Amino acid sequence: MSDTVFHLQDVLLSLKGNAGPVDILRGISLNVESGESVALTGPSGSGKSSLLMVMGGLEQATGGTVHALGQDLTAMNEDALARFRQGRMGIVFQSFHLIPTMTALENVATPLELAGVQDAFERAREALDIVGLGHRTGHYPAQMSGGEQQRVALARACAPRPAILLADEPTGNLDSANGAAIMDLLFSLRDQYGATLVLVTHDPVLAERCDRSIALADGKIA
Ligand SMILES: Nc1ncnc2c1ncn2[C@@H]1O[C@H](COP(=O)(O)OP(=O)(O)O)[C@@H](O)[C@H]1O
Ligand SMILES: [Mg+2]
Repeated sequence: MSDTVFHLQDVLLSLKGNAGPVDILRGISLNVESGESVALTGPSGSGKSSLLMVMGGLEQATGGTVHALGQDLTAMNEDALARFRQGRMGIVFQSFHLIPTMTALENVATPLELAGVQDAFERAREALDIVGLGHRTGHYPAQMSGGEQQRVALARACAPRPAILLADEPTGNLDSANGAAIMDLLFSLRDQYGATLVLVTHDPVLAERCDRSIALADGKIA
């Protein structure tokens, strides 16, 4: 059994733009080993989010291969990718992406239910306790601060105990105090669950907390 969680070979991502195709990722090769934490850094527009989306199977590479946990994501259709992510990948975005018509508890429990977890609501409650929101389980996203919403998003990402955690500038919409609290939580959840973490950030202090940084520039590894 291999300990390589991600194996990317010559990954290309080219999207249709108004003035013809735009090359967003231009030949990315990298490996991430089990239990590693890796920061993706680089200037705005360098392709960090696009690379994370390709690693998470949310965007299909237009060239090259992406293996995650030994499976070739580039050979999967959207349904297969969605099934693959279930329970294996937890993803956190800058803008929280909570479902507005669901309570905090429902937001966390729903993916667990979809993954076939028997005690989904019990597990969701535990996860909300861990992020310090045990008293807010019945609140809707609009009734919570940005920091609280991101805690819910973290609980949702971590509750299925995924092998992989992907985070795209998870503190980008938060003030520095809330941002620091979310980062502490992200790293402590990662330690607790032993997940492999890939974190997009342009904050050098956060990048320092990871085992390794990969700098992108103009769709390539700099
Ligand atoms: N859907 C899209 N269509 C066309 N261009 C896109 C699309 N998404 C991103 N881009 C372009 O791809 C480049 C990389 O974007 P992105 O991955 O979001 O960079 P980063 O996260 O490093 O800021 C940027 O130039 C951006 O404008
Ligand atoms: Mg980005």
